[in-house]
Amino acid sequence: MEMTSTSQFAPSNTEQARAWDGDEGAYWAKHADQFDRALRGYREALLDAAAIGRADRVLDIGCGTGEITREAARRAPEGTALGVDLSSAMLRVASERAAAEGLANARFVQGDVQVHPFEAGEFDLAVSRTGTMFFAEPVTAFGNVARALRPGGRLVQLVWQPPARNEWFLALMTAMSAGRDLPAPPPDAPGPFSLSDPARVSTLLTEAGFDEPRFESLTALEHFGPDAGTAHRFLLGLVGWMLTDLDDAGRERARTDLYRTLEDHETPGGVLYPSATWLITATRP
Ligand SMILES: C[S@@+](CC[C@H](N)C(=O)[O-])C[C@H]1O[C@@H](n2cnc3c(N)ncnc32)[C@H](O)[C@@H]1O
Repeated sequence: MEMTSTSQFAPSNTEQARAWDGDEGAYWAKHADQFDRALRGYREALLDAAAIGRADRVLDIGCGTGEITREAARRAPEGTALGVDLSSAMLRVASERAAAEGLANARFVQGDVQVHPFEAGEFDLAVSRTGTMFFAEPVTAFGNVARALRPGGRLVQLVWQPPARNEWFLALMTAMSAGRDLPAPPPDAPGPFSLSDPARVSTLLTEAGFDEPRFESLTALEHFGPDAGTAHRFLLGLVGWMLTDLDDAGRERARTDLYRTLEDHETPGGVLYPSATWLITATRP
């Protein structure tokens, strides 16, 4: 296990780099277990689709704190797993955990996948769990990934379906709005829903050099914490910045509304919300 930095970010990704290599990434690093737990329902489907071979050389795009990179390294004991991410804080967690597990074939690099100087054909497989939705120039980024894959190499990525299919997002935004009209996230700007439209994704991937992608629709319950109080603290830490332009009454309303919806979704298995993703597979011809 080793961690290096190229610190080469595309100018168009400056804002994302500032957030992920700043406060947002620090928050994700601090709460790595909770973020991993939130997406646990998708883990096996993603890994099944990836079908990692024992000698595969795997790239994990936007690997964050590296849960999927480490699993790739375990499944490819004669191969390698490289996690690339913008966030130094998240990579530190990824690196430390891989070292603690003795995963000598896992490596982590701080860099921007859109422009990272990969060697041509150096990977058999590229995977990503919600790490591909933040590129300012997705065709350039996916083109860079396509070149880094050998001919016949596959890209397997998990991305969110649109907000209307993700009750967790709607509930969070309704609470945070405190009655304001918040703009819907633009479907084609970097962000969690930028790859939610299959027609758009097909165009982006084929322009980037992949063949026609396949889309599998998945649903799972997203887990926000063991109880409403813990989930409330976790989510306010993540999106509390949305309340800064409200007055005291508005902030109080938002906090109370958030608590109520979390309480409504509390179960013996934790605070759970319906969610939907696309599992997208494409091959580099
Ligand atoms: C939603 S998080 C997902 C992290 C991780 N894949 C997981 O499942 O826990 C998105 C990640 O993508 C990374 N990211 C965003 N844009 C990137 C880029 N251009 N190059 C590399 N990583 C990027 C962020 O730093 C962040 O860690």
